[in-house]
Amino acid sequence: MKMRYLAAGLAVIGLGIGAAAAQSPAEFLANADPGKGSRIFNKCKACHTIDEGGPTRVGPNLWGVIGRPVASMDGYSYSDAMAAFGGVWTVDRLFTYLENPRQVVEGTKMAFVGLPKPEDRANLIAYLNQNSASPVDLVAAATEGAAQ
Ligand code: HEC
Repeated sequence: MKMRYLAAGLAVIGLGIGAAAAQSPAEFLANADPGKGSRIFNKCKACHTIDEGGPTRVGPNLWGVIGRPVASMDGYSYSDAMAAFGGVWTVDRLFTYLENPRQVVEGTKMAFVGLPKPEDRANLIAYLNQNSASPVDLVAAATEGAAQ
């Protein structure tokens, strides 16, 4: 009897994972709400400023971070792991990174557990995108990222 419940439970979990994987970042970003994202950014504020030219805290300033080269903020001392990650902060990379920073960039000194809910990450990315001199079309950016 017990085994049967266990099997049924596992099947439900399996379905849940399958459903989440079927939804792409673009679908979450299409419904993203920057207002909700600004509240999620409260979790980041202990370590990051977002305003243009804002000071470094524990982490670098995040003005215009979408499209910005990784580990490129002048005067900020990044970990070797972040410097080695390289490339640019695309929408897709942020979406993945923010789920579990220390797994995506192993050895990063960003001590943040991550945002497991894709809706939270999408809302936050919409907010980051607003805090930029050149906001991008998030859905188009995520779709291009997925095609790469
Ligand atoms: C406890 C402090 C802390 C918190 C909370 C935190 N960060 Fe960070 N963040 C850092 C540090 C430190 C770095 C530099 C990482 C390195 O060099 O390895 C960083 C780096 C980053 C980078 C890379 C920036 C670049 O210039 O390449 C992004 C993007 C980022 N954080 C986003 C966020 C977001 C969004 C949140 C909130 C969900 C957040 N961080 C929460 C400390 C934090």
